Order: sequence, then structure tokens, then C-alpha cells
Amino acid sequence: MVKTKIAVFVSGGGTNLQALLDAERKGILQSGEIVLVVSNTKGAYALERARNAGVDGVTVTRKECGSQAAFEARISEYLKEYGAEMIILAGFLNILTEDFTKQWPRRIINIHPALIPSFCGKGMYGLKVHEAALAKGVKVSGATVHYVNEVPDGGEILLQKAVEVKEGDTPEILQRRIMEQAEWILLPQAAEMVAKRIAEEKNA
Ligand code: GAR
Repeated sequence: MVKTKIAVFVSGGGTNLQALLDAERKGILQSGEIVLVVSNTKGAYALERARNAGVDGVTVTRKECGSQAAFEARISEYLKEYGAEMIILAGFLNILTEDFTKQWPRRIINIHPALIPSFCGKGMYGLKVHEAALAKGVKVSGATVHYVNEVPDGGEILLQKAVEVKEGDTPEILQRRIMEQAEWILLPQAAEMVAKRIAEEKNA
């Protein structure tokens, strides 16, 4: 079966991107092929990870494009150039507009570091999510992979995994545990599920 061409969008360190690259190498992600990494921040370490894996990486910043519309148009040009059929948001911190997401129905997935609908939505990203979870005193948090639509963290849920919150956790410690026990496992699994569906649809 012809593999689904995947673009991964990143903003930072890219440990989730690494999990996807490793999963592809190990055959856990077998229905999809990562063809492009798009960073919206200059010098993101994720780009280095892409380079090390022999995957092309490009940087498109909102600031340099001048508007969200121009930013999304530039990204769309790259997606077309690389023939992308699916997008994975792996720690991508720009909120895409409906104009963009409606062009990719059930073809964009995102990883969120909490159990949606808790600690999600606009402004809830990275360590802020774990700070909020600890401030609330929850005993369980986790990660969610969901389809992306115009509502931040509002699309259909694909996979979730719970992770224990322990006494004395700092946001950094909790973040690391959720990455290790949930995110790096869940995101490749969800990527395979969606890539497989798209590949099968093409064959049908
Ligand atoms: C991850 O924890 C991811 O779930 C989170 O940012 C981190 C990126 O780390 N994403 C969000 O908060 C999106 N709302 P990474 O660059 O090492 O993959």
C-alpha cells in the first residue's frame, strides 16, 4: 500500500517529533512517511532532529509573513510542494484558523498534554498545562490525541492515556512523566491509525 505523506508541525524541542521519527524507523508507524517538518520558530531544536533523520525541515514564522492568513498560505504552499496528505501537530503552538483546518477534515491530529476536556483550550500549552493541573490538585492527568478543527483542543478525541500525579511533582517533573508514559507512545499510535485510514481510502 502506498504510504500516507505526513507533515509534522513543531515549535520547540521536538521530543514528540523524535518519537514519530523513531516509530517510523521501527515500523510502528508503517502506513505513513514523514516527508516534511514545519517549524514556526527559528532555530527550533526539532529542525535538528529532522535533519538528523534525513527529513526536510522549513521555518515559516507568523511575524515574517505579516498576517495569519499569509502564514497559513505559505505553509500550504510547502504542503502542496511535498504532497502532504496528513498533518501532525507535535508541540505546535500557533492556533490554525478555520480557513486552514477546514481544508484538512480528519487529516490533522494534535497531541495535548492533559486529559481533554481538562486543562485545554486557548493559552493552555506546554508547562502551563501542568502548572494548572498541579494548582487544581488533580491526582491523575495524562495526554490526549485528537483531530484538529477550528476550536482549540475541541476536535474528536482519538486516544487518551492517564498518568499518575505524584506528591511533590513540579510542572517539569509531571511534564516529563506524561511525555514518557503517554505522549511518546500515544502520538505514534494515533499517527499510524490515521495514516492507515487515509492510505486505505486512497486504495478503495
Ligand atoms: C508537549 O508536551 C506537547 O504535548 C505540548 O507541548 C510539548 C511539546 O514538546 N503541546 C501543547 O501544549 C499543545 N497545546 P516537544 O516539542 O518536546 O514535543
